[in-house]
Amino acid sequence: MNSLEICQLGNPILRQIAEPITEISQPEIQQLIDQMLELTFLSKGMGLAAPQIGRSLQILIIASHPNVRYPHAPQMSPTALINPQIISHSQTEVKGWEGCLSVPGLRGMIPRFEMVEVSYSDRQGRSILQSFTDFVARIFQHEYDHLQGKVFLDRLESNLDLYTEAEFLKRLS
Ligand code: NI
Repeated sequence: MNSLEICQLGNPILRQIAEPITEISQPEIQQLIDQMLELTFLSKGMGLAAPQIGRSLQILIIASHPNVRYPHAPQMSPTALINPQIISHSQTEVKGWEGCLSVPGLRGMIPRFEMVEVSYSDRQGRSILQSFTDFVARIFQHEYDHLQGKVFLDRLESNLDLYTEAEFLKRLS
């Protein structure tokens, strides 16, 4: 891990609506993106949102890779999405396990749209339209929620869908 600290549940920044980025080319924004990419890589995380490192700005990272629960998840190098928006989504929702660096020690079964069509700017400032499905759609929606001041606990259908990480890992094997 580098020196950036992860904000945890209870920190009010996680409950704020993040500000859009107006000048993506600004050195401090480019540096922040670099820090987020590095932190995602070093923590082997699947995603990260700027509020989690104390910056209330609309930047998220997605970095899918295969894992025990989702062995067919695509391998992606960490990618920055700036000012992301959901354009449309599937009617279908699917439930799947999520955890969060800002909510340590817990896992929840969370319903998410199976497909989302999104727009965002890349770090060069180009406008991108892209569809994400399945696990990558889940990562996107989890990180997008962080930009709206939400965490995955807010999406629980029932407290019965909430496990401690220790119990989750025990039941996985
Ligand atoms: Ni999270």
